[in-house]
Amino acid sequence: MTTASLSHTLLNWYDRHARKLPWRVSPEDGKLGEIPDPYRVWLSEIMLQQTTVAAVKDYFQNFTTAWPTVECLAAADEEDVMKAWAGLGYYSRARNLKKCADIVAQEHAGKFPETEDALLKLPGIGPYTAAAIAAIAFDRPAAVVDGNVERVLSRLKKIETPLPDAKPEIKSVMADLTPQDRPGDFAQAVMDLGATICTPRRPACGLCPWMNDCEVQNSNLAETLPRKAPKKEKPTRYGAAFVAVDRKTGAVLLRRRPPKGLLGGMTEVPGTDWSETFDPESALGHVPFPCDWKMKPTEVKHTFTHFHLRLTVFRADAHHAVFSEVDGAWWSPALSLDEEALPTVMRKVLSAALN
Ligand code: ADE
Repeated sequence: MTTASLSHTLLNWYDRHARKLPWRVSPEDGKLGEIPDPYRVWLSEIMLQQTTVAAVKDYFQNFTTAWPTVECLAAADEEDVMKAWAGLGYYSRARNLKKCADIVAQEHAGKFPETEDALLKLPGIGPYTAAAIAAIAFDRPAAVVDGNVERVLSRLKKIETPLPDAKPEIKSVMADLTPQDRPGDFAQAVMDLGATICTPRRPACGLCPWMNDCEVQNSNLAETLPRKAPKKEKPTRYGAAFVAVDRKTGAVLLRRRPPKGLLGGMTEVPGTDWSETFDPESALGHVPFPCDWKMKPTEVKHTFTHFHLRLTVFRADAHHAVFSEVDGAWWSPALSLDEEALPTVMRKVLSAALN
């Protein structure tokens, strides 16, 4: 098939099988092909970086209910945005999201720029997101390449060069395939194909609209593509976390992390630094205040991009009045803990300490 007919075939498939996602234009009304709201496209694309559609859906609904336009998000309190983002991970994305909303509201009269180059100048928008917004929200024929697209196209064209070296070749295949008409739907069609049929394991080649053109269809080779350069082993860091619970009310002592760096500006319980050499035996030398600290039997484990973390958790049932002076920390009422900007690792710590 020619590239034009490959694109056409996939768009036909998309018209019948597109996933119904909240940021797409009402697919149930049969309005595929219509241009969606750039604010919703931008928000969904930032949320979807490093995360799955399933993990994002509720966050997207909550954000668009609380802040239905970019102006509303720009007017929001940053702390409220961080709280709404808590649990999605990669918190610098949330901070950049807010910065980007401020700039679009103030310097672009609330309208997102339409070209990849102009989009790239905004905080938090890299090459992938710029291409995705230009194509999906502004109908520009940008070549959009994410992990799904890499998988689908490396199989279609049997690209055996490992990633990341294969990226330029994959990008150029995508640029060739992307049609002038409906480029945004085409990008999302390749993504949906990757998410539902051309899956990492056991791809459903028999259902694929590109079956006859795929260079590895129905072979054992499909599952092995895309090849990836071996990953570096992640080191393990250790630390201790201290959960102080108010005896009377169940309130928990919390503090804010420094604004820059890992989990910047997010909320946490007091704890030690995390290091490869930390000795959990020495943890009690670091308590935020003297009390009857009791060690919990199981460690909390969490994996970040660059390291694994193991935290030894201690709990003390304290008198709030006596220890309310711990520098910059506050007692969060038991019923408000859900609304705090607590990252997932801290939610694990609280559940280890409180249950
Ligand atoms: N992953 C990232 N953006 C997406 C989109 N617009 N549709 C489907 N999957 C996606």
